[in-house]
This record gives sequence, C-alpha cells and structure tokens, in this order.
Amino acid sequence: GSTRFYDFKVQTLRVTKLCNTKEIVTVNKIFPGPVVYAQEDDRIIVTVTNETPYNVTIHWHGVRQKLSCWFDGPSYITQCPIQAGQSFTYEFTMVKQKGTFFWHAHVSWLRATVYGALIVYPKTGVPHPFKHPYEEHIVILGEYWLKDVVQLEKQVLASGGGSPPADAFTINGHPGPNYNCSSNDVYKIDVVPEKTYMLRLINAGLNMENFFTIANHKMTIVEVDAEYTKPFTTDRVMVGPGQTINVLVTADQPIGIYSMAMGPYMSAQNVSFQNISSIAYFNYLGAATNSISLPAKLPSFNDNLSVKTVMDGLRSLNQVSVPKEIDMTLFVTVGLNVNKCKSKTPQQNCQGPNNGTFAASMNNFTFVKPPISVLEAYYKNIEGQFTEDFPGAPLQFYDFVDGAPNNAPNNTQALNGTKTKVIEYGTNVQIIFQDTGTVSTENHPIHLHGYSFYVIGFGTGNFNIRTANFNLVDPPYMNTIGVPVGGWAAIRFVADNPGVWFMHCHIDVHQSWGLGTVLIVKNGVGELETLPHPPVDLPQC
Ligand code: C2O
Repeated sequence: GSTRFYDFKVQTLRVTKLCNTKEIVTVNKIFPGPVVYAQEDDRIIVTVTNETPYNVTIHWHGVRQKLSCWFDGPSYITQCPIQAGQSFTYEFTMVKQKGTFFWHAHVSWLRATVYGALIVYPKTGVPHPFKHPYEEHIVILGEYWLKDVVQLEKQVLASGGGSPPADAFTINGHPGPNYNCSSNDVYKIDVVPEKTYMLRLINAGLNMENFFTIANHKMTIVEVDAEYTKPFTTDRVMVGPGQTINVLVTADQPIGIYSMAMGPYMSAQNVSFQNISSIAYFNYLGAATNSISLPAKLPSFNDNLSVKTVMDGLRSLNQVSVPKEIDMTLFVTVGLNVNKCKSKTPQQNCQGPNNGTFAASMNNFTFVKPPISVLEAYYKNIEGQFTEDFPGAPLQFYDFVDGAPNNAPNNTQALNGTKTKVIEYGTNVQIIFQDTGTVSTENHPIHLHGYSFYVIGFGTGNFNIRTANFNLVDPPYMNTIGVPVGGWAAIRFVADNPGVWFMHCHIDVHQSWGLGTVLIVKNGVGELETLPHPPVDLPQC
C-alpha cells in the first residue's frame, strides 16, 4: 500500500445554525470535518495539532489498529489528551480493512462537532461484490447543540440527572427544514434518473440512535461496520451511534424531490428526546426546483420490530471462520443505574429519578477513567491506576454461563472502579451482553476497540444457553452491536491484537456515566504478536 498524509488542525469555527451564532470545535475549519481517503493496506499518517483551549484526542472508529494500540485515541485509555497548543501524529495501517469508517474526538463530548468520514477503497482493480454504483455519497447523521458540549457534560454529571436532548438532528451538519431558520440549511443529493447510488451512512451523533429512510425508495444494505453483507433490502434502517451502513439506492421513481429523513429510535420510557426529524433531499435532476418534496415516513420512535427485522437480515457476504471452541466466556450486563443520593444537598447532584443519581455500568461496575492512560500504566507497570478484576468478586460466576442468571445486578447501587479484564494472546473469546436496568431498559450500542467481532446471536429477555440460537456460518462481522432492549447479544472474536481496548456504550452520556470496561490483550510470542514501544510524541497528562 501507499502512505496517506493528513494535517488536522483542531480549531474553533464560528457557525450560524438554528438562528444562533456560536463557536464550535472542528478540524481545519470544516464541518463535518475533512474526509480521510485511503485504500486497503495503506498507511495513514495524521498530524493532529490542537489550536483550541480544550483537550483533544482523535479516534479512528472501526480501524482495528493491528499492533498500533498507541494510536487508537480514546482519552485515558490509550493516551492522554493532546493539550492546547500541542500536537500528536497518529500512524496506522488499514491491515486487510476497507469500507466506511469515521474518525471522531474521544474526549468529553467533543464528538458533537469533531467528526468526519474515513473512506477506505478496495485495492486497485478489486471490484465491490455488487454492481459498481454510479456515484457514492457520505451521509453523516449527527446531533447539534447550542450549548457548549464540554460544559454540558460537566453540568449533566453534576446534576445527577439525564442529558437534555440535542437542539437538532443533522444530516452532514444540516438540520433541514423542520427546524427554525433552517429551510436553506439542508443537505441535498442530486441524482440522475435510473442510476444507482451508494450512500455511506455514519451515525456520529452523541446520544441518540436513529432511524433513516428515503421517501418511496428501497435501500439495499451491502456493508455494515466496514464489512460486506449479503444484500438485504429494506425501506428503513436503524443506525446507532458508532455504526456505519452502506446502502444502494436506485433512482427508479418518477422525477421529483424525495425526502431523506433521520429521526430518533428511543425504546426507553421517561427519557427526554426530540421526536422531530432532520430532512435532506434526494433530488432528481429535472425536478422543478419549486416542487414540494415527498415526505418520508419514519418508523415510530419506539419501533423495536423494525430494528429486529434488519438485524435478523444481516449476514456476512460469505461463510466466515467463527471461533468454534471457546476459551473464555464473559457475561456482561449493560445498563443504567440510579444510585442513592449521597449528597447533603440533593438539588446539587441527585436530579435523577427518585432523587437519585444516574450512573451506568457493566456488571454493576461504573467505569472510572484513570488519571493517566490505562495503556501507559499497563505498559510501564505503573501501579494503582487500574485493577484486573473485571467482572469483580461477586460476579465471577458470570465467567461460566449456564442459563440466564435470575440474580443479575439490580442496578440500584453501582460501584466505581477502573476494572479491566486481562486476556491471553490468542484466546477465543465469547461475550454475552445482557441488557438490564431499573429505570428502564434500552438498546445500547456497545462498541469494542481494536477488533471486529462476529455477532452470532441476539434475542429478547434474559439470555438462556439452552434456548439461544447461534449462527456460526455467516454472522455479520461488526464493531458496534446494539444490544436489544431488555435482551441479549452474543459475540465472538479471537484476541489476536495485543493492547488495551476500550469496550463501551457509544451513547456518550452513558459512557460518561461509566458504561464501559477495558480488555487488556497480552502480547503473544515474537514481533508479529507484540505491541511496539510508545511513540516519542505520545501526549503526557
Ligand atoms: Cu467511536 Cu470508543 O468510539
């Protein structure tokens, strides 16, 4: 492969949206940020210079970072943030990877505006396994806040209550005509009748899973999380934060302007969110410019069935090599907690349900980021920064799954900790995620860094080994799995990439509340199984 160089200057930019002018943080004063292009097996070198007062890191979402964990990007997991005025050069290779990825800030809630696409083409002369589309377009779903998102995160954590909804959903940064002052702030794709287009859908939004649909048009899913799938045709998709989906759309309808709509998927009750859609246009050439766009019909916000139907239809394109013998099964509950109020001034930090404090957890442990990165502490043997006891003492029996636990954590008092799970190189790992929650259950998009994994099964209710059905033939190969509402999902992968890998809910407010843990994969034998030394310019805390 060749080497692609990019220069990222993280800067503030004055923008006017929703009748308000404010400064947002962006890269190279572009919003959404610049697209990084490469081909399979290329090396990508990006120098990130932080010209803002905020702490910044950039994560390359979906890139497996084979033997390059130092460049993964999550703050306090693999690196300290790049401080104001500092820079750091990310260097990694797209080893056997191609498709739709994205990059985003991985510190506080800066992802709200610091994101962009990372597009990796197949090697020269290697065609897609479907008819080459006439054109392709990047379609990034996002959320826009009028408040300063770094402040907002602090306020939400200090209040103990939930996060307010974004002020707008956006498509490629544009809210569209459903929002104030936005009738001209609309994204539009011009299409030639009868041609087929590939849309690269990316959900970069902070806190909301979303449906996406196009009026009167079918979409054929051909790739999910940068891996080809068997073609699956649908009129709606759900894209959780952290997920990418490529769809083919043929402009086979009468000439006109058709709405593309993005709206919320929210299965939990009593949660504040905006039930309003961001609209973009699928605009046939030849349509009268003043014609009214045909409205798109989004599923209702709590339409779990639509989500399940598409999940059921996702299959890897070819037969894949799913690990058959499992060396380690981890049972991991994911969900929200409402901790009892500990403060003497409840109005300060107990504004959650029942005067409690919102938290989130895996196996009832709230992940707390350490003061230096877990990777640095692990690599340099710096003690006291993390423990190796995830899932933790009372939960060790979850290592041996035998039917559904009816004594799963009750989520009324999560414990804090920087708990990690250490895994020997080459282990065949199976993880069963079980969605739980006291206030309400909801779909959590769980993302694993450093790996893709086979999603071999999922279902509603408690996981039960006796009734669970696993697909070991052609399951989809993903990096973010939406664990069904009150249900479970099972994944498998081979731990063949040494490093320190964050596994967390990609809804940022849940991550802030501690819905995550860290998997530490040890070095194997020899150079090809060993994480190299840290880069010299690695930021210091
Ligand atoms: Cu795209 Cu840890 O995230």
